[in-house]
Order: sequence, then structure tokens, then C-alpha cells
Amino acid sequence: MATRKQEKSSSAGMDATQLLKQDHDDVRKLFEEFEAADEDRKFELAAEICQALTVHAAIEEEIFYPQVREAIDAEDLMLEAEIEHDTVKQLIERIQEGEIDEIQLTAMVKVLKEYVNHHVNEEQRKMFPRAKRAELDLEALGQELLARKTELESELASAAGDESDESSDDEEEGGESGRSRGGMAAREKDEDDEE
Ligand SMILES: [Fe+2]
Ligand SMILES: [Fe+2]
Repeated sequence: MATRKQEKSSSAGMDATQLLKQDHDDVRKLFEEFEAADEDRKFELAAEICQALTVHAAIEEEIFYPQVREAIDAEDLMLEAEIEHDTVKQLIERIQEGEIDEIQLTAMVKVLKEYVNHHVNEEQRKMFPRAKRAELDLEALGQELLARKTELESELASAAGDESDESSDDEEEGGESGRSRGGMAAREKDEDDEE
């Protein structure tokens, strides 16, 4: 299996909006890869996408949104973003929890991608420019985001490790049903930029 080493260190010097945009680009690459992948790889990639989006949404909600909300006068924009996060999370839950087949997975990931694309555009075109114009220390915020991101990723990785230890016994007998769980330990990754 091709495990690409993530280039997390490259996020070290980024300010908040650069770091979040890097996340957006990374997940877009995962969606593209998903579309061309075979069945087993699709389940792994879906798990990576869900993990990346979960961590990303968490650092935005815990750190970035509250500070931006304070700094810019755009409650409508912030509320929309939060509502969009809720919808994305519901889709992620369905992907992670259901015993779903490839056709269902593909449909869910397609819809997830459309939602995420829309949301990312709103952030990059409306929210980030306003955050940049505001009195915000984006460098310091970037460091805070990175620290929390690293922490959440290692929490999720160890939780996924525990889960696969526990489930490996039952799933030998459960057969096919284990497949949708298989990718949960997959680590996030990085690729080149586009667009
Ligand atoms: Fe967001
Ligand atoms: Fe975002």
C-alpha cells in the first residue's frame, strides 16, 4: 500500500488562512483521488476524507471562527458557515457509521464533496479576506490551529488504532462487513497544489 509521508512540517510557518487553505487543498486532492480509486481504496480514502474534515472543522470551530466572529462584523456569514459544518458532519457520520456498499459510499462522498466545495468557496472568497483585513494576529492563530490540529490527529490515530485492534477478531467472522471500517486508521496526507 502506498503510504505517502505527510509534509506536516510545511504547515509550521503558515498563518491561519494559509493553513486552512492548505487543508482545503489537501481534502480536494483526496476527493479527486477517490473518484479514480478502486473499491477497497475508496473505503480507505473516504476514511481519510472524513478524518481530515473532522479535524479541520474542529480547529475552525474551536479556534478560528470564534476569533474571526469577534473581529469582523458578519454574523450571517459565521452562522452560515456553522450550519454548513453541521450538514457536513451529518454526512460524515453516515459514511463512518453505516454498513454501506460501494455505490452508497460513492453517492455519499459525491454529495459530501459538493457541500465541502461550496463551503470552502465561501470561506476562501468571503470569510478569509475579511479575516485578513481585520485586527487579527493570523500568525499566532496559525500556530494555535496547527498545535490543535496535531493534537486532534494523534487522538484520532490512537482511537482508530484501538478500534482496529478490537474489531480485527470479530471481523474475521463478519466477512465483508468489515470493509467499511478498514480505512479508519488511515493517516492524513499531503499533495501538491492546484487551482
Ligand atoms: Fe469551515
Ligand atoms: Fe475550512
